[in-house]
Amino acid sequence: MKKNLGVTAVIGVDWGDSGKGRLIDDLAQEADIVARYSGGSNTGHTVNNSYGKFALHIMPSGIFNTEATCVIGRGVALDLESLIEDEFEQLKKAKVNWKNLSIDPQCTLTMPWHKLRDGIREKFRRAKIGTTGRGVGPTYADRVERIGLRLQDLLAADFAQKLKLELNYQNKTFGFKLNFEKVLVQFNRYAKIVKPYAKNTLDIIHMGIYEKKNILFEGAQGWFLDIDGGTYPFVTSSNTGTVGIWRSFDLTPNYINNIIGITKAYTTRVGNGPMPTAISGPERDIIIEKGHEVGTTSGRTRDPGWLDLALLKYAVQVNLVNQIAVTKLDVLSGFTKVNLCIGYKINGKDTWYKSGDAQELKKCEPVYKIMPGWKEDISKVRQFKKLPKNAQNYIKEIEAYTGVKVTFIGVGPKREEVIYA
Ligand code: IMP
Repeated sequence: MKKNLGVTAVIGVDWGDSGKGRLIDDLAQEADIVARYSGGSNTGHTVNNSYGKFALHIMPSGIFNTEATCVIGRGVALDLESLIEDEFEQLKKAKVNWKNLSIDPQCTLTMPWHKLRDGIREKFRRAKIGTTGRGVGPTYADRVERIGLRLQDLLAADFAQKLKLELNYQNKTFGFKLNFEKVLVQFNRYAKIVKPYAKNTLDIIHMGIYEKKNILFEGAQGWFLDIDGGTYPFVTSSNTGTVGIWRSFDLTPNYINNIIGITKAYTTRVGNGPMPTAISGPERDIIIEKGHEVGTTSGRTRDPGWLDLALLKYAVQVNLVNQIAVTKLDVLSGFTKVNLCIGYKINGKDTWYKSGDAQELKKCEPVYKIMPGWKEDISKVRQFKKLPKNAQNYIKEIEAYTGVKVTFIGVGPKREEVIYA
């Protein structure tokens, strides 16, 4: 996997939280360019390496390879408060420099009113989504409505006028009491800090392709949170899969050599929405505790479920995934049996995932293949054939069902706790 990076994308083939930060941090060691293409500060990518432990939201997880160019594409909802006040500070403390960062001037800014609107909307929703409250949905809504302020607006001479107009509109429409002077001072400060990083990122990516550079696209969230293909309305507001790369960089998938679909060895979901394989009882508590299933951004407990191969296979096909990364296999050690969902039934009849439809998925009963578990601690294992036989069979079953090879198996949280196949 690492030797032939070429143009590679890491895409969540689940509801997110699969450990992308850690895989990206690892693969980024071989990359010339690492690019984020979607999501905003709702994203929580945890990186645990020799510099320390970091929770990144906007910053690409490749930033620890100081030789690589790190790119934030125009499809990212740019929360400068998170990037500057939190993430730059985390990196500064650890003496990691981010001089190779480039941010596309066309990124839409997450403004204070977006965060306020996120909260209000959620309060008045009949079916609560469980948003992270980071203002991501309203930021994308304004982009689509063509009223979003972009980074290039922030850096232009008439920013104060544009800000005043928009802030007054937001105050009037939503009854906010946002103070223009205060917001202006805050964003003028951000403008000074980010100005050196504002660069046309399409040029960087297209030139990189032309020069045959190793490029790594860092997905955020997972396919089933995609605004179109996910379990609508319990989704985020951006294109989380391969299509998001196209939208951010005008780059069609035929330029991408490897699309790695990443999932945990089990499923989790944070926020609301259906998950047919949800686990209840003591197994639920064991997975939450062993897997530290608490959201990086929201601090909420994630609901665990058995691995849903029916969904996984769909996400693999739609996103042209040609390799699978399975993380946290070690968390399943100790169970006498582990379930794999290999299909659904509604009222006794076979069915499948209907793209974009949470209502239908809610009615689905999982059909399980019950696999014998394994007891051994696998965190020190570095070769597939040294895994307990039942753990090997679990991985082989994923491969057989999806038709795609598992090339990365996470057996612990550290960079080196991995089996590469
Ligand atoms: P929003 O994107 O903050 O509006 O949240 C919409 C839904 O997506 C909620 O269910 C969130 O919990 C979920 N979500 C958003 N970002 C992430 C993520 O990075 N990991 C997992 N779930 C997420």
